[in-house]
Amino acid sequence: MTGQVQGKVALVTGGASGIGEAVSELLAREGASVAVTDVDDLRGPEVVARIRKAGGEASFWHHDVTSEERWIEVVADVMNRYGRLDVLVSNAGIGISVPSITEMSLADWRRQTAINLDGVFLSVKHCLPAMRKTGGGSVIMMSSLAGLRGAAGLSGYCATKGGVRLFAKAIAMECATFGDGIRVNSVHPGIIDTPIWGKIPTEAGGSGQNAPIDPEERAKMATPLGRAGEAAEIAQGVLYLASDASRYVTGTELVIDGGMNAGGVARRA
Ligand SMILES: NC(=O)c1ccc[n+]([C@@H]2O[C@H](COP(=O)([O-])OP(=O)(O)OC[C@H]3O[C@@H](n4cnc5c(N)ncnc54)[C@H](O)[C@@H]3O)[C@@H](O)[C@H]2O)c1
Repeated sequence: MTGQVQGKVALVTGGASGIGEAVSELLAREGASVAVTDVDDLRGPEVVARIRKAGGEASFWHHDVTSEERWIEVVADVMNRYGRLDVLVSNAGIGISVPSITEMSLADWRRQTAINLDGVFLSVKHCLPAMRKTGGGSVIMMSSLAGLRGAAGLSGYCATKGGVRLFAKAIAMECATFGDGIRVNSVHPGIIDTPIWGKIPTEAGGSGQNAPIDPEERAKMATPLGRAGEAAEIAQGVLYLASDASRYVTGTELVIDGGMNAGGVARRA
């Protein structure tokens, strides 16, 4: 039986952990060769080793998405190794929370924007030529529910994810205008149980202003389906957008959030 992305080559940024890790594993299981890229040199190679052990194909590249120089090297390497690029999953991101925007340092604002927004810009700038050479493909940008709705304490993060949402639509229009066969969509996870929640207090310059956030606790109250999502549940949405099953889908947003964006529910006891 052939997989849903059999023979395709995918590049996943932030592929060492959480959603990126689940996406890398699922795409490989469904037949893609996966370039796992991340700044985490410990977990990244572990993800690749697991994929290979399961019979899939993957390689790891150390890759800071804010470095244009590195983007040029990584894309050239991937093209040398695999000869094509069909799928880009621009997933790497961080979250910085502050009690009030008045307490956010410009350095933190810029660091978060550099990874969450500049990194996505650079991904498209350097992957589109390779995908056009391949003859088409699918770009999937990881936005957030925080790219659709405001969240107190996360205004800088919301600004980056809202930017990603509309950036995806604009690039979708560019690609459609070029007729290059490349589709571009954004994915909007709600509260997903990944390591990112444990990092939020320390990402703010290690200031320790914020208590650790328990995603399950938060989701129980805030999510109509009453629980946090799993990274694997986001990966299923990415697989759909990466595969030819979504060949008529571009410029749209796939919300995977347990119903949060639709409204609130009064839960029965
Ligand atoms: N977990 C959630 O609830 C949730 C909800 C909505 C959106 N998201 C988004 O999903 C994406 C993945 O988040 P996650 O929850 O899997 O988090 P995670 O922390 O588990 O994984 C993020 C990965 O990005 C990597 N990374 C960080 N900075 C990088 C850089 N400069 N260059 C390359 N890689 C870098 C990290 O090393 C890590 O492996 C992010 O864009 C995040 O904003 C997550």
